[in-house]
Amino acid sequence: MIPLNPHLASLQPYPPGKPIEEVKRELGLDRVIKLASNENPLGPSPRAIEALRATASELHLYPEGHAHELRHALSEALGVAPERLIFGNGSDEILMLVALTFLRPGTNLIMSRHGFIRPLQHATLVGAETKVIDVIPRNCEQDVEAMAFAIDGSTRAVYLANPNNPTGDLVHHERVRGLLAHVPSDCLFLCDAAYHEYCADREEYQDPLEWIDEFPNMLVLRTFSKAYGLAGLRCGYAVGHPDVIREIERVRPPFNVTRSAQVGALAALGDQGHIDRGIEVNRAGMVQLERGLAPLDVTVIPSAGNFLLVDVHRPCGPVFEALLRRGVIVRPMAGYSLPSCVRVSIGTEEQNAIFLGALEETLSEAKP
Ligand SMILES: Cc1ncc(COP(=O)(O)O)c(C=O)c1O
Repeated sequence: MIPLNPHLASLQPYPPGKPIEEVKRELGLDRVIKLASNENPLGPSPRAIEALRATASELHLYPEGHAHELRHALSEALGVAPERLIFGNGSDEILMLVALTFLRPGTNLIMSRHGFIRPLQHATLVGAETKVIDVIPRNCEQDVEAMAFAIDGSTRAVYLANPNNPTGDLVHHERVRGLLAHVPSDCLFLCDAAYHEYCADREEYQDPLEWIDEFPNMLVLRTFSKAYGLAGLRCGYAVGHPDVIREIERVRPPFNVTRSAQVGALAALGDQGHIDRGIEVNRAGMVQLERGLAPLDVTVIPSAGNFLLVDVHRPCGPVFEALLRRGVIVRPMAGYSLPSCVRVSIGTEEQNAIFLGALEETLSEAKP
């Protein structure tokens, strides 16, 4: 037996959303909808599809390691210098590169309970401690004041997803800035804005990119996986101080963002109409789900993302299984210390209606 990296002992594998094909195969179903991974129900931008077709004949060539065209287009779109950007095979990879660059045994990362789980997994892998801070029980919101209080001399990263996945809570920008002001200069503030596009117009939200000049220890993460509808291509990015970016670049695999991902993301970036349609579908779908869930025996946590956390007041496993049998894939939340919750991604009007019908049937057949 080859001895393992000892840090693996406490690492739980990430439980991804169940794929549609697998559920069809296993349960012999023809119609299966997946509302489990916060994907864009409208699909990718037609421009991205076209751009991918046009570059298919170049797949024998390695991608450009520095993502030159995408970097410059994004630099212009965001109004930040190109050297402030780093690209990843999804923003998840950037979170891993950050752990490899700044965390090691004896250091710690601070994040919220029920926070997006990948930073915890990356920290575990490199032998760093994760200090998990309880949420505010009243509204399940991340307790940024307690997070600031927990910072000690060994803290090298503070992680805040805003809005958070899976709770969907949005911390008011003044409180985020309050936390940021407490993060010492030898500690990174990781502001994960994966769902930025869905909450950009909210009064409580301020784009954290506006703060990067002031705080050189801040890294803002965003992705093409959600509003841009390109989860399958794997392309995310982070914006930070060039000195921080340079250090993370040392760890980045040279061809981590594929040729297709660069081309697709570039095309999607130019299709604001598609993004706007997705945001509108999400807004309408959120209202549809909130209204449809209101008469059921569930509690819904208000969400600023493209998903809803639903407390079904009974173990989520059997509810998840019963929904699967009705051809609806959601995400059971036991792994996020939310054993009576499922998370449902906002779908099209038709998908949302199917989910609501399936949940109503499920809850009425199995009273707790
Ligand atoms: C808060 C948050 N951050 C990061 C990610 C990772 O996204 P990706 O690796 O697809 O860019 C996700 C995906 O669900 C997320 O919810």
